[in-house]
Amino acid sequence: MKLVGIVGSNAELSYNRILLKYIAKQFNHLFEMEVIEIKDLPLFNQSDDQTNSPAIQRINNKIMHADGVIIATPEHNHTIPAGLKSLIEWLSFKIHPLENKPVMIVGASYYAQGSSRAQLHLRQILDAPGVNAIVMPGNEFLLGKVKEAFDEQGNLKDQGTQKFLESTLQKFVRFVNVVAVLEGPKKPADPEDLHATGKIDTTIDGVDMAAEDWVEKAAEIVGAVEGKTYVKLDRGILTVDQLNYFLASMPMELTYADSNNQFLYYNHTLPAEEMLASRTPGQVGNPLANCHPPKSLKNVEWVIQQLRSGATDAVRVHVPTHGPDKYVVHNYQAMHDEAGNYVGINEYILDFKPIIDWYLKQTGQKLVGDVDAVSGASANDNHDVDGVSGATANDGGYKNVDTVSSTSVNHQK
Ligand SMILES: Cc1cc2nc3c(=O)[nH]c(=O)nc-3n(C[C@H](O)[C@H](O)[C@H](O)COP(=O)(O)O)c2cc1C
Repeated sequence: MKLVGIVGSNAELSYNRILLKYIAKQFNHLFEMEVIEIKDLPLFNQSDDQTNSPAIQRINNKIMHADGVIIATPEHNHTIPAGLKSLIEWLSFKIHPLENKPVMIVGASYYAQGSSRAQLHLRQILDAPGVNAIVMPGNEFLLGKVKEAFDEQGNLKDQGTQKFLESTLQKFVRFVNVVAVLEGPKKPADPEDLHATGKIDTTIDGVDMAAEDWVEKAAEIVGAVEGKTYVKLDRGILTVDQLNYFLASMPMELTYADSNNQFLYYNHTLPAEEMLASRTPGQVGNPLANCHPPKSLKNVEWVIQQLRSGATDAVRVHVPTHGPDKYVVHNYQAMHDEAGNYVGINEYILDFKPIIDWYLKQTGQKLVGDVDAVSGASANDNHDVDGVSGATANDGGYKNVDTVSSTSVNHQK
């Protein structure tokens, strides 16, 4: 289950932020929660519509893709802070991401009854027709006298409070599931255009995507810089050469496929046959459909749908075909722009074994007991992916780039 936690305070030191970070860390067995901030948002102004600004769109995207939302509100003058109200105004003006979204309210404040009045007001606000959230009834969590509540690691000190918080969160998880049933089945994901017949604003026209020398031709068309030319990055400046050295030195195989499902880049350091997932220079530029055997395309599509829809930001697949001396994982990581729009996949493939061995040596620990990692059995990574079959299988003549591997994926969940 994927939640977002909204920090209702814009203060540098915020106890509500500490509370949400504690919840995200302590209860990660119940849900995955990303904590988001209202700190740098513009103040709502109906005459200066900033709905499409990256800052508002980022939050909109995060909420839209979450199963539920937890809002931690401070209390300022017996109500919610202006910054939080301003955010809700943005989210009920031209866009309505909170509509039918399960929401839980928590709050921390300095005084004993702290946040109770703010929480009541927030319930009313979230119930307004333009907002239309589904706020969990009852189940209040108020953290008064908050200055004494946390230890230096940001953990709640009082065990009774911890237990009570856990019980409210468990109820919220059930509430989110009940709301999902009430809302009915989710709209099926749109099919993926694995042949990249569409076009995005970075697609390079005038060159055959399947051409062996796509990189050279495409570079000529766009006047791509190379060598010692500087590129400004966030955050830094490198020459193209330096960027190449940097990417080549990454202890993993990196592949970039854009949101149009076109394979655009890999860090080319090894010949195809020595790679964990083989790629050749001539494959770059191809649509993903050309890079996998037809039998794998359903799985490729499923992985991309998970990432594009925001159902998850990462799909991980253990590929055991490399033998017991390696623990190779294909990681498909969604990439987003500043506004939170999906822009493609960063696939990084690495052998975790040297890292695990190093960690065990450094800490003097050993793997013991019935740990899956020892036997090489497929680990359950909560992404419903059966990471066994076919990722490095014979490609039957296809250009087996494996950008999204041919691993069998469970489509039911
Ligand atoms: C302008 C202002 C008004 C406040 N009003 C209340 C209040 O009505 N009730 C209350 O319990 N705390 C009140 N407080 C104290 C807040 O509980 C305290 O600032 C709280 O920690 C804010 O949450 P944060 O640490 O997440 O920013 C007020 C604080 C400010 C700055």
